[in-house]
Amino acid sequence: MKKILAPSILAGDHSSLKDSLLSADQDGRSWIHLDIMDGHFVRNITIGSKAVAAIRRATSLPLDVHLMIYNPYDYIESFVEAGADMITIQFEATEDVTDTLEYIRKCNVKAGLAFNPETSESLTMKFLDKCDMMLMMTVNPGFGGQEFIPEVLEKIRFVREMCDNLGVRAGGVTAQNEEQKKTLPPFDIQVDGGVTRETGRLAIDAGANVLVSGTYLLQQEDLKEAIASLRSCAQQ
Ligand code: DX5
Ligand code: ZN
Repeated sequence: MKKILAPSILAGDHSSLKDSLLSADQDGRSWIHLDIMDGHFVRNITIGSKAVAAIRRATSLPLDVHLMIYNPYDYIESFVEAGADMITIQFEATEDVTDTLEYIRKCNVKAGLAFNPETSESLTMKFLDKCDMMLMMTVNPGFGGQEFIPEVLEKIRFVREMCDNLGVRAGGVTAQNEEQKKTLPPFDIQVDGGVTRETGRLAIDAGANVLVSGTYLLQQEDLKEAIASLRSCAQQ
C-alpha cells in the first residue's frame, strides 16, 4: 500500500517555512499538512487562507488543509481559492457533515473527515462513501507536541476492516467485484498527532496509510533525512 507522509508545519519556524517546504520530498508521496485553528473549536489560533495562499506559491506539493474550526462550510471557498488540494473538516465541529463534504467535492478538492480520539468509530461508517479520506486524530486537536493516544489504533483497525469488508476503495468508491477490490487503490486513512517512528509504525500496522507528523519531523536537523527515516519505518 502506498504510504504518504504529510509534514505538519505547525511545529516549524514560521519565519522560514519556505526552507522546510522545499526540503520535503518531491516524489509524489508527500503532502504538506496545514493546521487551521479558530480559537473556538480548539484553544489555539493558527493561520488563515491568506497564509495558505502564500504557502501555495512556495511549493508544488499537495496542500492538505485540516480545518479545526466551527462552521467550516463558510470557509471552504476561501481555502479552495487559496489553493488547497484537500480539505478535512472535523466531525465534531460541523453541523451538516454530508453537505459540507459534498460542497468540498463540488469545488474539485478532495474531502476529508476527521474524528477526535474519543468519538465512537460507529459514527464513521455512514460517511465512508461520502469522503475521500478519514483522519483519525491520535491526540486531542489544538496543539502539536502531544503524546500519541494508543487507544485510537483500535478505531483505525475498525475503519480499515470496514473498508475491506465493504469494498470501499480510494475516493470512497465501492468496488463492484473482487477484481476491482484488488485493483483500485485503498481508501486513505490518515493519522495525526504524536506520530514518531514507533507510533507511525503502529498506525501503519493498524491500517493507516497517511502519516502526519509535526514535532517529531521538524525537531530533527535535516527534514529530508527525517522524512526518509519515518518513511523507511512505514515501509518495513
Ligand atoms: C494537532 C494538529 C496536528 C499537529 C501534529 O491538533 O492537528 O496536525 O500539528 O503535530 P505533532 O506531530 O507535533 O503531534
Ligand atoms: Zn492536523
